[in-house]
Amino acid sequence: ISKPILTSGIRPTGDVHIGNYIGAMRDIIDLQETTDAHFFIVDIHSLTTHSDETSLAKRTIDAAKLYVAAGLDPHKATFYTQSVIAAEITELATYLGMVMPLGELLRCPTFKEKAKKHPDHVHYGLAGYPVLMAADILIHKGELVPVGEDQLVHLEMARAIVRRFSAHYGPLFPEPKPVENQSARVPSLTGEGKMSKSDGKGTTISLKDPKEVIEQKVKRAYSDPLRTHKVKPGHPTRTGCNVFHLHEYFSEPEEQQSIQTGCQTAEIGCVACKQMLATSIERTVVPIRQTYEQLTDADIHDLLLMGKEKAKVSAQQTIQEVREAIGF
Ligand code: ADP
Ligand code: NA
Repeated sequence: ISKPILTSGIRPTGDVHIGNYIGAMRDIIDLQETTDAHFFIVDIHSLTTHSDETSLAKRTIDAAKLYVAAGLDPHKATFYTQSVIAAEITELATYLGMVMPLGELLRCPTFKEKAKKHPDHVHYGLAGYPVLMAADILIHKGELVPVGEDQLVHLEMARAIVRRFSAHYGPLFPEPKPVENQSARVPSLTGEGKMSKSDGKGTTISLKDPKEVIEQKVKRAYSDPLRTHKVKPGHPTRTGCNVFHLHEYFSEPEEQQSIQTGCQTAEIGCVACKQMLATSIERTVVPIRQTYEQLTDADIHDLLLMGKEKAKVSAQQTIQEVREAIGF
């Protein structure tokens, strides 16, 4: 029995935080066991926003290194940078663009949002983002795509593109389906909303933060505002205490249980509770950080090269079929 084909694009950022890890990265990496997974660093897509902080090459290697450190196995999955099959993807995107009404691209909520935020960067490529994303999926005849809520609309567009393309040229592509992702929502250290890169480094814990930094950040984290005195019991629930909510994602069930009891009886204070949280977070990220530090850029280059070969074969096969179907 062949495994379902999965495709997943990863943005070239090394700024991955523990929320990204719990909410997305960990689950995506798990899928390499049960699917024919294709993971790629979307370096072409990243050009819609021209970031000048760190070079693209550096960011790409760094993101790849973090994923490998977190458990992505390039011997199981096809792991590559999108641009190594730029010729095939852009060719496919051109054909797909011929069946994609422009009006739909311009009405896409993510396009409208970005255009409003950055009116000076409303490029042809930004509007075409969903078409390029469809090409990323269809170049390997992807069937499953793990996406967050924000990407569901793009996946819907990819499905519509497949239906229209099939109507003209026959059923070459399966309609890609979303993979339900867990609804983990790791809260920000400030207690306001979810942890997010855009809120700044003080509010997130990076997978690369050393132990001391984790401890400092957790020490300053927002907790139960009603727990003002050592002897007064606290409110160890998701909504009652941000630190307790974080424990839910990082501490063992028995630890959570003893913290809950200890807090309700005022036997455990916030300082101790936070120290335990820092320990739990450290325990989760330490294997990733240590592997990350051991991996060299050269290791990553080699692994990506291996993926490039696999990706090329698959991409060229698809392009050949597409050309034949079109009549070239
Ligand atoms: P950020 O908001 O930090 O920029 P992204 O938008 O790059 O994160 O999201 C990358 C992935 O991580 C998405 O799949 C998203 O659902 C997941 N994710 C982001 N923040 C969190 C969080 N605080 N808790 C759980 N999952 C998250
Ligand atoms: Na975001």
